[in-house]
Amino acid sequence: MTQITAITLKAPIEGLPTPEDFVEMARPAPDLPEGGFLARTLCFSVDPGTRSRLSAGASYAFPLKPGEVIDGFAVAEVIETRSPHFAVGQTVAMGGGWADHQVFGGRGYVQLIRDEGIPLSAWIGVLGIPGMTSWFGLHRVGQVKAGDTVLISSAAGPVGATAGQLARKAGAARVVGIAGGPVKCAWLVEHAGFDAVVDYKTTSDLDAALRDACPKGVDVLFDNVGNAMIDRCLPLMRRGGRIVVSGQVADYNTAPEDRPGLKNTAYFIAQRLKMEGLVVFDDMREFTKAQAAMAGWIKDGSLIYREERFEGLRAAPGAFSTLFTDGSFGRRIIHLT
Ligand SMILES: NC(=O)c1ccc[n+]([C@@H]2O[C@H](COP(=O)([O-])OP(=O)(O)OC[C@H]3O[C@@H](n4cnc5c(N)ncnc54)[C@H](OP(=O)(O)O)[C@@H]3O)[C@@H](O)[C@H]2O)c1
Repeated sequence: MTQITAITLKAPIEGLPTPEDFVEMARPAPDLPEGGFLARTLCFSVDPGTRSRLSAGASYAFPLKPGEVIDGFAVAEVIETRSPHFAVGQTVAMGGGWADHQVFGGRGYVQLIRDEGIPLSAWIGVLGIPGMTSWFGLHRVGQVKAGDTVLISSAAGPVGATAGQLARKAGAARVVGIAGGPVKCAWLVEHAGFDAVVDYKTTSDLDAALRDACPKGVDVLFDNVGNAMIDRCLPLMRRGGRIVVSGQVADYNTAPEDRPGLKNTAYFIAQRLKMEGLVVFDDMREFTKAQAAMAGWIKDGSLIYREERFEGLRAAPGAFSTLFTDGSFGRRIIHLT
């Protein structure tokens, strides 16, 4: 019988996560239900959004209990199957966890990887949930259109950097990022095609820097960071502006009652603004269309992405915890082969 080795939650976390909050466990693979499969992990991701499941409390997903495997997205090779759709030897991208094997129970996010012209890890990055969040956040929620000014927070992250490039492809007149540190800011302008990037960590007057970077105001704010950043950007919004609430990386480690609120809500009235959040899985039926377009752009070099490579299951807790402290520069992928 196959043994599954996985990283699990030791106890609910308060504040910043540390590697000590996690524990490795081995257990036998469960019996596969009809429609399910077992797959050997090739690589998996660590995701900032996972933090919202590691404490007791409100989230759009149930909190994990001690002993449960930590969420991640995996590329894996099917080794046993009871599904008519997935054969032994096929490679899939799927919702899974920090484990050396992935179990698909017959429901949930999974897709066969058919396009072999792109590195496998991209299917859990730029062509996976982060890239789909960029696409559907920008198009379905943000209603981006030609001539818009688009402002993106955590712009050098997998979601932000992709959103900026997609905004440009949609005809945005100006694409502006907010990111931490000169290396990320330079990369966004020199390689990812952003018009301007504000370094929120070193700028002495962030409000003035944002005004200078968006002289005509902002039509679409794509926020990955949280309430304090949205509140700061509200005065920049143009009439009819759209605010995409993608993520709250600055707030995930703070108890809900201590998170900042919005004060500048008068701008919603004056500028007829809309603010909407997304859970990208709602758009799952449309993923393949977005992926086909984006895969073409990756191949012709007009859509770029970065990954940070980590080796071995035990690297996952550290790679995850430091997402919130050292910053990451690209999708963090744990490779098991
Ligand atoms: N709605 C959905 O369906 C959905 C799906 C997937 C992901 N998401 C969300 O999308 C957002 C972006 O995801 P991602 O994978 O691309 O991650 P990411 O933006 O790369 O997140 C990590 C980065 O966040 C920034 N950061 C960390 N702490 C911060 C703080 N206190 N204030 C400001 N920035 C901080 C750091 O960048 P700097 O060095 O630049 O500060 C860090 O490198 C996340 O919030 C994620 O949860 C949403």
